[in-house]
Amino acid sequence: MHTAYSELLISQLTGNLSEDVSNFLSRNGCEQTALHSLKVGGAAKRIAITFGADPIEAEYAGYLHDISAVFPNEIRISIARQLGIEILQEEEIFPMIIHQKISQSMARDLFNIKNDAILNAIGCHTTLRKNSTLLDKVLFVADKIEWDQHGIPPYIKEITEALEKSIEIASYSYINYLWQKRETLRVIHPWLRDAYYELTNEEIDKVGGGIIENHSKDV
Ligand SMILES: [Fe+2]
Ligand SMILES: [Fe+2]
Repeated sequence: MHTAYSELLISQLTGNLSEDVSNFLSRNGCEQTALHSLKVGGAAKRIAITFGADPIEAEYAGYLHDISAVFPNEIRISIARQLGIEILQEEEIFPMIIHQKISQSMARDLFNIKNDAILNAIGCHTTLRKNSTLLDKVLFVADKIEWDQHGIPPYIKEITEALEKSIEIASYSYINYLWQKRETLRVIHPWLRDAYYELTNEEIDKVGGGIIENHSKDV
């Protein structure tokens, strides 16, 4: 096992992923994250069923997405470096964001996940990315609905209503919420910027298409 993981308490896997992840997080002092991860696994499965993604992949990605919570912010850049993860300048400035990439490596190394769709969804669950897959968006939205902070998410009404329409609109709803307050964010991750522009263009394409269609009817 990689030396970056040498300080962690790691049990034998049972084959029951929700139990294994919950046990791992709890043993390493992250009980709240364990609860959050179980909820995100359940939400991701439900959303996957609604939008035709693989429910098992979504559930597994949900359970595993925050396993790097066991590493506090102060050591995340060092852990990422040890694991050979590419570190962007924005991540160096604000190490919280690199937890998505560390979780991706840990899911592969500690939980034997070999499915790239699951690994990639975990690896972009905070920022999304350009050309995101359906599974990426399912996990992204599930994580925002079952957020890991106290109280009700301030964007819950918009994202829930958007989810009635499509997973793309729901993803856009949350990214747009972040974008509107981008001046207050510590950094804007380039993947988030890419996802924002991509989803914005998709929305404009739809609206623009509608306008052209209506106009041609008038003529
Ligand atoms: Fe996360
Ligand atoms: Fe999360």
